[in-house]
Amino acid sequence: MSSKNLDTLYRQVIMDHYKNPRNKGVLEGDTLTINMNNPTCGDRIQLSLKVEEGKVTDAKFEGEGCSISLSSASMMTQAIKGKPIDETLQLSKIFSEMMQGHDYDENLDLGDIEALQGVSKFPARIKCATLAWKAMEKALKDTQK
Ligand code: FES
Repeated sequence: MSSKNLDTLYRQVIMDHYKNPRNKGVLEGDTLTINMNNPTCGDRIQLSLKVEEGKVTDAKFEGEGCSISLSSASMMTQAIKGKPIDETLQLSKIFSEMMQGHDYDENLDLGDIEALQGVSKFPARIKCATLAWKAMEKALKDTQK
């Protein structure tokens, strides 16, 4: 696929998550809830996670933000549901490296998350893409203390 077609495909994936967010809302009951702001624009996200026996068994988010931040939150919640905490944090590390423009193992199947790799070329948008991921990392690292 040409890089132009790939860019178009990635843009479509991002807009699909923005317009039809997966896992939007707030979890009820015993959950980890984190609020986080993007200091550069003031947009915010609230992430709630259910963690049982070392696994993320459910994840939801709500908040205000741009298409990059909200589609990233949608993709992230989709990707981490059912994953053990250590795999979830590992995925977060891979995403962070992707945002810094570093190569990652091409054998990894990152699913829709790959659509965000172009964000690394726009430093002002990296904080948008990483907002939900930082909230997730903070919530899970707090459980490990
Ligand atoms: Fe605010 Fe992207 S512009 S999160």
